[in-house]
Amino acid sequence: MTRPWWREAVFYQIYPRSFMDANADGIGDLRGIIDRLEYLAGTPESLGVDAIWLSPFYVSPMTDFGYDVADHCDVDPVFGTLDDFDELIEAAHRRGLRVIIDLIPNHTSDQHPWFQRSRESRESPYRDWYVWRRSRSDVGHSSVGGGSNGVPPNNWMAEFGGGPAWTFDPATDEWYLHSFLPSQPDLNWDEPAVQAAMGETMQFWLRRGVDGFRADVIHKIGKAPDFRDNLGVFVGPGADDRGRRFDEDWPTVHQRIRSMRRVLRSAGDRMMVGEVYVLDPEQLAPYVRSGRELDLAHNFHFLTLPWDAAAFRDAISEHEQLLRPRGWPTWCLNNHDHSRVASRYPGEAAARLAGMMILTLRGTPFLFQGEELGLEDGVIPAESVVDPGGRDPERCPLPWDAPSVGGSGGGFTSGRPWLPLPPDAERHNVAAEASDPGSVLALYRALLALRRSRPALRTGEMTLLATRDRDVLAWRRFDRGGSFVIALNFAERSAFIQADELGVDFNGIVEVSASMQRAGERVRETGLELGPLDGLVVREC
Ligand code: GLC
Ligand code: CA
Repeated sequence: MTRPWWREAVFYQIYPRSFMDANADGIGDLRGIIDRLEYLAGTPESLGVDAIWLSPFYVSPMTDFGYDVADHCDVDPVFGTLDDFDELIEAAHRRGLRVIIDLIPNHTSDQHPWFQRSRESRESPYRDWYVWRRSRSDVGHSSVGGGSNGVPPNNWMAEFGGGPAWTFDPATDEWYLHSFLPSQPDLNWDEPAVQAAMGETMQFWLRRGVDGFRADVIHKIGKAPDFRDNLGVFVGPGADDRGRRFDEDWPTVHQRIRSMRRVLRSAGDRMMVGEVYVLDPEQLAPYVRSGRELDLAHNFHFLTLPWDAAAFRDAISEHEQLLRPRGWPTWCLNNHDHSRVASRYPGEAAARLAGMMILTLRGTPFLFQGEELGLEDGVIPAESVVDPGGRDPERCPLPWDAPSVGGSGGGFTSGRPWLPLPPDAERHNVAAEASDPGSVLALYRALLALRRSRPALRTGEMTLLATRDRDVLAWRRFDRGGSFVIALNFAERSAFIQADELGVDFNGIVEVSASMQRAGERVRETGLELGPLDGLVVREC
């Protein structure tokens, strides 16, 4: 059996608004992506990733920057046209790059025609496509008319803003459910027509040649059918993550994912990675472990870890074990919803170690644009804040040139960027880093090239090493063709791994060091020295 491509691929997430602007309106677009594909793949100078994940580019009023979809089957004019999309797929495939796109099954925009029709009347054929309920006080009474003074149907809370997950609609005297903004009503997945419609959406894009989907908040398409109160507060003020929630991860989610998978597989070799935002690793595992649901699932527990080698070791080991035998791990430390590693951990050095880690662990890595440059979060002046969820800092435009060279748009745009460039764009930008052999970009290229040429780093087994220094995280990757030791020093002082911790007769050669200073060094039985916040990939020989 050939191994599925997504187990060996490195994915790169493109946030289209912030990647490259081709028409000077300050907002990235599909044409900009086409123009810059060479940066990602196809030439010896390219970064060398295998697939891209495109965040939403669909028609949208942009209250959640595209995660509020008003038409699943068209491109928002700000990003381009369907023709641009087709061209993008073709250009990417020509370079050997696969393309997966965001699929947003849990909710739509309130401007979507489905919701517009649903809210028209209680008798609308689209009424049950969304979740409508009477005020809590009305239930069990014959009279209607709880009005906006009534009590929401249950205690579920909405993400962003922290208010109730229900908004009252006076026209029909009922509340609709929205797990996110009031402008993002939740679809009703108990309604077969909704499931069918989402299947058709998938078919539409599969026919256009996409290689798969990243399924947005997929754990939310299963909710307790009786809409009982959550036992505890999980979102907003007072949230403590304890208790039990009934607004997501209900067992029905699993059969729904299985049927989505059937649609996917009917189109051949396509994949689905899920944003399963459950932080308990045991709850996450069933989404991938059976081999019959998601091909991959992002592990968000991993994104919440403190900068601590032991915490990472435990999380890696637990995730690995929970997914065996049929699941395959996925590793990422950045996306468009989270503070960047260079900002939440100790700076550029941590960004380097993070890259070394996720590109050499056993599993599929996901990179987020700009991570390969070691970008930090942007600083957003109060008057420029646009995201209701406070996520502007990680969404700043990608600097292609130093502003002193490429103008104030940093090569991203010749207009005015929709968000400020990240801090230090003068140093951390594509052009400057591409010509600096010690840059973060050079490190990512070296790691990706090594991974491509060494199957042990892609498909080999992995064992975590028991190092005595608690600030060192080390593991071995191996197959019949070779063996590598990867060692990361989380401390801001030097560290030493003794010979006996590496195994008898350890001999090797440094292939890559996070500092980019030590490639080619020989390592003998004496052990391994690591500089402050440095990491090494050592090939045993
Ligand atoms: C996911 C997306 C996030 C979006 C939310 C609601 O978490 O990654 O950006 O706001 O879903 O669609
Ligand atoms: Ca544009």
